[in-house]
Amino acid sequence: MLEEQTKAIRRVDYTAPAFWIDTVDLTFDLDPSKTRVLNKMRVRRNPDVAAQALRLDGEELNLARVMVNGGGTSFKMDGNQLVLENLPEGNEAFDLEIFTTCNPSKNTQLSGLYVSNDSFFTQCEAEGFRRITYFLDRPDVMASYTVTLRADAQQYPVLLSNGNLLEQGSLDDGRHFAKWEDPHKKPCYLFALVAGKLVAREQRIVSRSGKEHLLQVFVRPGDLDKTEHAMNSLMASVAWDEARFGLPLDLERFMIVATSDFNMGAMENKGLNIFNTKYVLASPATATDTDFAGIESVVGHEYFHNWTGNRITCRDWFQLSLKEGLTVFRDQEFSQDMAGIESARAVKRIEDVRVLRTVQFPEDAGPMAHPVRPDAYEEINNFYTVTIYEKGAEVVRMMQTLVSAPGDEEGRQGFAKGMKLYFERHDGQAVTCDDFAQAIADANPQSSLANLLTQFKRWYSQAGTPRVHAQGVYNHSNLSYTLTLSQSCASTPDQSHKEPFVIPVKVGLLNQHGQALAGHDKTLVLSEASQSFVFENIESEPTPSLLRNFSAPVNLDCDLTDTQWLSILANDTDAFNRWEAGQRLAVQSALRFIRASKDPQSDSVLDEGYLDAMRTVLSNPELDSAFKELVLTLPSETYISEQLESVDPQIVHAVREAMRQQLATALQADWQTCYAQNRVLGAYSPDAISSGKRALANMALNMLCLAAQKEGSSVWPGKALQAFKDASNMTDRFGALTALVGSGHALAEPALAQFHALFKNEALVIDKWFALQASAPDRSGNTLPIVRQLMQHPDFNLRNPNRARSLIFSYCSANPGGFHRADAAGYVFWSERVIELDAFNPQVAARLARALDRWKKLAEPYRQAAKTAIERVAAKTDLSNDVREVVSRALAE
Ligand code: TRP
Ligand code: ZN
Repeated sequence: MLEEQTKAIRRVDYTAPAFWIDTVDLTFDLDPSKTRVLNKMRVRRNPDVAAQALRLDGEELNLARVMVNGGGTSFKMDGNQLVLENLPEGNEAFDLEIFTTCNPSKNTQLSGLYVSNDSFFTQCEAEGFRRITYFLDRPDVMASYTVTLRADAQQYPVLLSNGNLLEQGSLDDGRHFAKWEDPHKKPCYLFALVAGKLVAREQRIVSRSGKEHLLQVFVRPGDLDKTEHAMNSLMASVAWDEARFGLPLDLERFMIVATSDFNMGAMENKGLNIFNTKYVLASPATATDTDFAGIESVVGHEYFHNWTGNRITCRDWFQLSLKEGLTVFRDQEFSQDMAGIESARAVKRIEDVRVLRTVQFPEDAGPMAHPVRPDAYEEINNFYTVTIYEKGAEVVRMMQTLVSAPGDEEGRQGFAKGMKLYFERHDGQAVTCDDFAQAIADANPQSSLANLLTQFKRWYSQAGTPRVHAQGVYNHSNLSYTLTLSQSCASTPDQSHKEPFVIPVKVGLLNQHGQALAGHDKTLVLSEASQSFVFENIESEPTPSLLRNFSAPVNLDCDLTDTQWLSILANDTDAFNRWEAGQRLAVQSALRFIRASKDPQSDSVLDEGYLDAMRTVLSNPELDSAFKELVLTLPSETYISEQLESVDPQIVHAVREAMRQQLATALQADWQTCYAQNRVLGAYSPDAISSGKRALANMALNMLCLAAQKEGSSVWPGKALQAFKDASNMTDRFGALTALVGSGHALAEPALAQFHALFKNEALVIDKWFALQASAPDRSGNTLPIVRQLMQHPDFNLRNPNRARSLIFSYCSANPGGFHRADAAGYVFWSERVIELDAFNPQVAARLARALDRWKKLAEPYRQAAKTAIERVAAKTDLSNDVREVVSRALAE
């Protein structure tokens, strides 16, 4: 434990760098097993810091030569650092030249320079640049880069780096070169190069200011026909950032390159974004509506980083949410604006909140809980979390809400003013979360945000999800309604006491007929432990609609009756709260049932009131299909489990399955109508209306197969098989396959085989094939043997992160009923895979390691078995820092 504590890096220890690097001139001789890197830097002492040695970071490099001002120099190694003590005195800049080699073909971590499908790619965030050359690998050192790439012309016809192409030409021995210059200063984590056999879809655009730009999407030959949607998304992103925030593209050329070996979704390298193929390649035949939406949002996300992340970057990695939370907020807003109609905006908001509550809330309640701006870490890669990203986005969203003003109810104008000031103050700098919050507040001096800024920033410093309790009291004699809101927050590791947060609570009131009480919609700002808010002239006892549009990332307790929830579900003007009311009712039913230890085989979980309400929603012609699909989707097993003190995953699974079965059977006639009405014929388009219809039709098909299974009927499975065969797009084909697999019908097996045969050359589709089998509803423990068998399939490859995620993560993280086995075999499997992955890709291994984060919440025998499995991993002496940090936090008292 002591030893681990000494490894932690702390936010309070930040000091400015002792040297600046003004320019970097890199020359690469690219060769898979031995790439030579010549790094010529202009370096000077930072006059604000006392004179000291220059310590450069490096990892897995072979050092050949170090020169200062053209001559030899003494140096020493201190662990992974190259230390230069005898540098020129004074504030004059000097030349530092370092020559190293590395082995990209052996780079299985996919950090630094690596080979994938015979092409070269880089990934430098967070600390990958040090695996390419010795450097001050920290984001507050911003330099101007020129890059020369040399490689075999046949094997690597395309040579790319950041910025503008200055020159290219041929060399001796069949090699050629390209020289690039980035006109913008950048931290080294935004450096990138790509070399290989690639082809590009190109598009010239003219921005609002009249400037011309070239957009390019590079992929492997053969994939060009799957790049149209990514290019459309990129064009839309450029237009959106100019229209909504006045932020133009600042480069002549903007490139996206896709690779199938990638640890995460994508990377915002300046002018040369590198993407996981999953977020670039799409055709109607191979990608689902969800994939199309994912591409739009990730292309947007990386593009928006160009201003929020690249032009203004992070001072240190503790400020990661400065760029990530803000950029997620921006991509969420982009997707909402692209969806257009109001109901589709609400659907996107609900989907985002669902992720927050099913993934981030558990993180905030578990051993890896950390503030949006963490105080310490051992391995920064472990802090690319839903807290930094999604909760960080909620913090930005609350700022927007808290700068709202009459006529600008959402706060968009006030927030845009704040962004403008942020860029005026900090363009070209490496800054902190404080700087951002200060700019938004200073641009809106009259706002609640400005008035409560210091306290608001507790959202950055305190971990944990606050709980808000709401209690309404109606006073008949003076026609007033008093709403008392109180807040608390459970302790988290290293933070036992929490101060009150600033919590914007959007509210409205409904009368007994469910009608909105005009004039009472407002945003209450809860900033104390408890506060009361009085509504006057209320004619009769109202139903409060609280936390509309999920105005703050909190758990809300409010004791409404089932009748009141049903009224909100049927009538509220806030679409988010209509959905939320349905979820509440379903969760309450599940919890009552679980707590009473009733048997889901013999008793029904959902009551008639709920089922009737669901029928009404399904048949309501005013509601969009996408919204209906969300309302009819039961809360996940993970979400239900989080509401329990002690979790038996098998009981939760059985109860939720019983609820699904009940919805399927009780609404059978409605599902049939629904299926008939929502099938989309004609040419495929991923727009909100038609994707919503497909989602609902596929849900209906799923329900009908489930109902048939209980009756022993093969009618609907037969229809599903036909739909599978006839499908004209992947959404419908995969939807039908999912329905078959979900019902466990015998037809599932031939359909799976046919699916594989059809798409055996489409890696991203084969990922779906693995994922579907690994996440299928478990039937008497059948999933684990299937997963183990699939590991032997010739198409399985643990080294490819997408494939590892599709099989291993789908089982361990997306199939609680299959994973949490009373015989502990799921946990044994997990520990084997964590150890196996850790030997070659610690980042991916550490993500898998987090699948058992919430072990302390498990009931026996799961709890002890999970602990034993984690201890088995922790007992390994040669673990990476990544996995070591996750398992030691999990086991900490
Ligand atoms: N900054 C990237 C984003 O949010 C994500 C990222 C961080 C990443 N570290 C990475 C991607 C490592 C790949 C590998 O868009
Ligand atoms: Zn990002």
